[in-house]
Amino acid sequence: MRRKLAAGNWKMNGTTAALSELEVLARSFPSPTVDVLICPPATLLHRAAEAVRDTGITVGGQDCHAATSGAHTGDISADMLVDAGAKAVILGHSERREDHDEQNEDVRAKARAAMDAGLKAIICVGESLEQREAANTLDIIGGQLSGSIPDQSTGENLIVAYEPIWAIGTGKVPTLNEIGEVHDFIRARLERRFGEGVGRSVRLLYGGSVKPSNATEIFGVSNVDGALVGGASLKATDFSAIVEALEKA
Ligand code: PGA
Repeated sequence: MRRKLAAGNWKMNGTTAALSELEVLARSFPSPTVDVLICPPATLLHRAAEAVRDTGITVGGQDCHAATSGAHTGDISADMLVDAGAKAVILGHSERREDHDEQNEDVRAKARAAMDAGLKAIICVGESLEQREAANTLDIIGGQLSGSIPDQSTGENLIVAYEPIWAIGTGKVPTLNEIGEVHDFIRARLERRFGEGVGRSVRLLYGGSVKPSNATEIFGVSNVDGALVGGASLKATDFSAIVEALEKA
């Protein structure tokens, strides 16, 4: 049985004041059936970890460097995330792939470093609108999966997030059939590469404009084990409603 997961990606949002949202969230959970993870900006990670200590909620990073340490001004290693209290890290988000020209092999190297440090790697894949309209979605996703996911992956250290780029922050969401098609495809690819046992144990998240109003129907799609939530994770009331929808799914 895969445990459901609601992950919040705060992106480059939040200063000290935002920790109060986390405190509200911490009062509503733990949930007996859903893992709750918040990925704040790195500047808040340590304090966020303190704020959720003993609540069952965990915190994670939004990126890490592939090296363990060294002359990489501005970067953060996986060990540093662990030291700050992180249990997971988002890797290969489309905003990183676009803003920082991250390629599949970069994401794979980062994922290796994250797993070696004991973090769960949430590896993001997703097509652009152009690629979807050209009917290339599954080819693109297949290439991202084989290029970005390291061989050492297991159901324990790997989570895959399907995030169509055109659905992120836009209010547009694929149809339930489209989400199901991609999630079934990802599951089949993981089973083929890692064997049925491991392939079936990896959690698959959907991400892209998930809100309280659409969460229930998205969580009803097969092979959707939870969500990676951007905008709606910034407010505890919205994110709690999404966690509750996942509990009932
Ligand atoms: P969104 O972002 O929920 O604001 O669309 C999702 C994400 O980028 O992880």
